[in-house]
Amino acid sequence: MEPILLCITFIAGFCLLVIIYLRMSEYFEIRHILGYIPGPKAYPFVGLSWKIKKIPLEDQFKWFNDLCFSFKNGMVVTWLGTKPTVNIRKPRQLQVILENSSFTTKPGNDKILTPWLGNGVFTSIDKIWFDRRRFVKSAYLELYSTIMIEKLEILKECISKELELNKTQTINIFNLVYKYSLDTICEIAFGINLDLQRNEENEYVETLHRIGKQILSNIKIMHNFTEKIIIQKQVDREQNKLLVTEEFNILETCRNTSLLDKLLDVCENTKTPFTLQEIREELDTFIFAGHTTITSAISWAFFMIGNNQNVQIKLQEELKEIFTTDNEPITIQKLEKLQYMDRVIKEVLRLYPSISSFDRLVDSNVVIDNYFIPKGIAVRLHIYQLHHDPEVWEDPETFNPDRFLPENNAQRHPYAYVPFSAGPRNCIGQKFAILEIKIALTVILRKWHIASLLKPSEIKIISNFILKPFDKKIELYLRPINKSESN
Ligand code: HEM
Ligand SMILES: *[C@@H]1O[C@H](CO)[C@@H](O)[C@H](O)[C@H]1NC(C)=O
Ligand SMILES: *[C@@H]1O[C@H](CO)[C@@H](O)[C@H](O)[C@H]1NC(C)=O
Ligand SMILES: *[C@@H]1O[C@H](CO)[C@@H](O)[C@H](O)[C@H]1NC(C)=O
Ligand SMILES: *[C@@H]1O[C@H](CO)[C@@H](O)[C@H](O)[C@H]1NC(C)=O
Ligand SMILES: *[C@@H]1O[C@H](CO)[C@@H](O)[C@H](O)[C@H]1NC(C)=O
Repeated sequence: MEPILLCITFIAGFCLLVIIYLRMSEYFEIRHILGYIPGPKAYPFVGLSWKIKKIPLEDQFKWFNDLCFSFKNGMVVTWLGTKPTVNIRKPRQLQVILENSSFTTKPGNDKILTPWLGNGVFTSIDKIWFDRRRFVKSAYLELYSTIMIEKLEILKECISKELELNKTQTINIFNLVYKYSLDTICEIAFGINLDLQRNEENEYVETLHRIGKQILSNIKIMHNFTEKIIIQKQVDREQNKLLVTEEFNILETCRNTSLLDKLLDVCENTKTPFTLQEIREELDTFIFAGHTTITSAISWAFFMIGNNQNVQIKLQEELKEIFTTDNEPITIQKLEKLQYMDRVIKEVLRLYPSISSFDRLVDSNVVIDNYFIPKGIAVRLHIYQLHHDPEVWEDPETFNPDRFLPENNAQRHPYAYVPFSAGPRNCIGQKFAILEIKIALTVILRKWHIASLLKPSEIKIISNFILKPFDKKIELYLRPINKSESN
């Protein structure tokens, strides 16, 4: 071999060794620092991975919860391969992270969300996140109840159709609510009726279902779909504007109030408008965050109401009091009076927080409960475990909406109940979500009495980002409230 080649090989080999050495010493240093925090035995380089592989997928959620609860002070470090996560679940621990504006960074290593949603407000960090949040905030506050009510009428049709086949069978409400919420969020986002409940053949939705496989090419198709709609909308608005400004200045009445329209409104009134790609990212983010969470929340609500008949009776009484006739339309004012229903929804989100845990990458060294966590480590905030902790909630597995009576609220730690997270990076769809859940419960419970096929202890839960039943099934018996319809 040429001496020069030999030399290069030697240097390359040496560099490799140095890199390996630096990586290893970094790994062992972090292991040493985090070693003070309690946690299950972590074998070098593999951590818990080999153990988790042996547990069936449907049991992993429960297994992990049991593991965390076996460490009493609530802080547990777990290793997946060479990657550590500091898990926290006590109110005071979550408070340290959530109330401090220096902890808003997400790890951002998700294989699907990052390429799909790009720098949308859910996934971005630092200044981009800050600007995006300001950009979209007002659009998220709009009340889109008319579209929700229209789409729920279609959901009622779909349920009735299934019931016609066999009145005594159960219906998988999870599946129907999923289609309903996707249909609704797409119309609210784009201002276009895709009619997804009756018509499943839509490019965007079909691609969404396939997204687990061939991720990048499927994401490209979805991006194309969204971008086409934005461009079309921009053209429409340009034409409408000319038409309108020539006559009277009644632009407002001609505008459709979709999220896209709202975002374009903001763009038109700012010196540095957002680009096509940036608007697309926010639309996709809105659709993603606004239908998966809602599907889970509404389905679990039906499940728990169908399991607690005393609660259902009280809900029915409240509904009858506020909607005195059968056909009385739903208005925001009437919804605000449904205070028992408010407490029921809160209790559902306590037991089944749609996003059961989420991560932060700590940007600077931080001390939680006297344990030191170095900069750059991922901390996982466990909302589900917080909400099921017997030290925080008396009799946590009991469904009791009265926990949220004002006099009981006052006694709780401010970070004991955070289904929508808290602090500077909390959920910006909270108002939207509560409204949609409330309207859905109102529409369905005014028509049907419901009962669940299974009890909470009989249902297996999975949390791959969203908390849902492992088999994607919530089976309900539905019986019309109006007696003359039941024969
Ligand atoms: C019951 C329903 C919902 C629950 C329980 C929920 C919960 C949460 C939680 C826990 C976060 C923080 C996530 C994190 O920090 O990683 C979050 C963020 C977010 N949520 Fe929701 N959410 C719900 C509904 C919605 C809806 C309907 C929308 C949109 C219409 C929405 C839009 C967002 C967005 C955009 C963020 C990111 C905010 C940011 O990072 O600045 N959410 N949500
Ligand atoms: C309706 O469903 C119930 C429960 O699944 C079943 O026992 C019954 O045979 C069904 N009836 C008809 C007419 O299909
Ligand atoms: C996306 O659109 C562009 C231009 O409209 C087109 O060239 C490309 O093939 C499309 N990609 C997919 C995956 O549909
Ligand atoms: C508003 O959207 C509807 C479709 O939902 C469309 O038929 C109508 O033309 C739009 N109006 C304007 C002014 O863009
Ligand atoms: C936020 O966290 C940083 C880094 O740990 C710390 O220096 C700062 O005091 C915290 N701020 C508040 C308000 O707790
Ligand atoms: C019950 O349903 C029947 C048939 O659909 C309808 O004629 C009647 O008005 C309903 N009763 C009430 C109280 O709404």
